Amino acid sequence: MMRIASRIHDYSVHFEEGLDFLARLDGFFVVDANVLRLHGLSALGALDRDRLLPFTAEENAKALANVEEVWDRLLARGVRRNGTLVSIGGGIVQDVTGFAAATLYRGIRWVYVPTTLLAQADSCIGAKTSLNYGGYKNLIGTFYPPHEVHICPAFLSTLSEADFCSGLGEVIKLHLMGGAELTARLTAEMERVRRREPRAVLEAIRRSLEVKIGYFEGDEFDSGRRNLLNFGHCFGHALEASSEFAIPHGQAVLIGILFANRIAVKRGLLAEQTARALEEDLLIASLVVRPTARHLDTARILDAFRRDKKRPHRQPGRAADRAAPRHGPDPGRVPPGQEADGTGAAAGDDGGAARDAPGRRPRRRAGRSRHGRAGRPALRLSRISEAGPAPSSSG
Ligand SMILES: NC(=O)c1ccc[n+]([C@@H]2O[C@H](COP(=O)([O-])OP(=O)(O)OC[C@H]3O[C@@H](n4cnc5c(N)ncnc54)[C@H](O)[C@@H]3O)[C@@H](O)[C@H]2O)c1
Ligand SMILES: [Zn+2]
Repeated sequence: MMRIASRIHDYSVHFEEGLDFLARLDGFFVVDANVLRLHGLSALGALDRDRLLPFTAEENAKALANVEEVWDRLLARGVRRNGTLVSIGGGIVQDVTGFAAATLYRGIRWVYVPTTLLAQADSCIGAKTSLNYGGYKNLIGTFYPPHEVHICPAFLSTLSEADFCSGLGEVIKLHLMGGAELTARLTAEMERVRRREPRAVLEAIRRSLEVKIGYFEGDEFDSGRRNLLNFGHCFGHALEASSEFAIPHGQAVLIGILFANRIAVKRGLLAEQTARALEEDLLIASLVVRPTARHLDTARILDAFRRDKKRPHRQPGRAADRAAPRHGPDPGRVPPGQEADGTGAAAGDDGGAARDAPGRRPRRRAGRSRHGRAGRPALRLSRISEAGPAPSSSG
């Protein structure tokens, strides 16, 4: 069990060997429809319709209309301030239900069971909840951690290879950020992790979470050290967007790390030999989705850089990437909240390329959404910034 200190409320992370723990959870359940189907979840099968909402996890489901549906179902059950919402699924279910839990009565009890590698090793802690809005990803959100997180690697057996390897990208990022020893350990265990051996995966998840805690505890609200969690994300987001999301988030982050490391070498922050060794042993070996020449089109990538909501306002042409990990000659040289290139990063770690990318624009979801926003033109970020929130409020 891990205890995490939060300015909102402290919370606990429990590691579970099998699915028995589900029978002990109580409350209103929102469950990823794929997880419900693939895992049977016999403990939940007994729940009546009043207590269970199956949720189709698509990116465009991160919309206020679905939050309203969760609120409505909770209220229909007579849930009061002391009620509990239990959510089971990946980052999409987490974002929608976390937002709903954070806002109903200004915060009800929330239990989260992450079922993807990305959610188990990364997003389940850190307290962010985000919705897409107006054509932008993760534009609306709150800081609200679950009260309890239950991590059970048994869920991961049914995850698609693309989703598993997307999560792997964040696992690698967090091990790199944890230092040379952790990186060597992950490299040695990578084959077992890739085969999804429960013990190896569980240990990799545990180490990833420990590293992440070290970066956000004391800087929960994104102002300084937490920004370093965006290692590889500036270029990664651009690649995600320029590939029209053909490259999954965590895989794009791996490529972003490759680029960030090259820049770090050029700036004397990382030894060339270390960069090459990391590429050969870990980074390139873990890329299962390779970008095509079209995905790497320079003009499209520069355009995506310009649109990145997480990019701080600064001179064009300086869009490099987040700080190098602790393999560099002098990691201490990167002051909190600064990128390796010395620019302050106004960023978040919520896995979000911010742009009105074709195919991933939050759209009205058939049969669910009550607000017909589909036909609205996507807002330009500059307009949103002028209107109020700074890019640092992004996630
Ligand atoms: N709040 C945060 O801190 C934070 C951080 C990172 C990412 N995110 C968000 O998370 C989302 C991505 O989440 P994700 O990658 O965890 O996955 P996801 O929720 O997008 O789910 C991906 C797919 O996997 C399926 N799935 C989930 N669990 C499964 C299982 N055990 N077996 C088989 N299929 C399963 C889902 O039904 C879906 O089809 C993005 O919207 C991103 O913005 C949020
Ligand atoms: Zn990420």
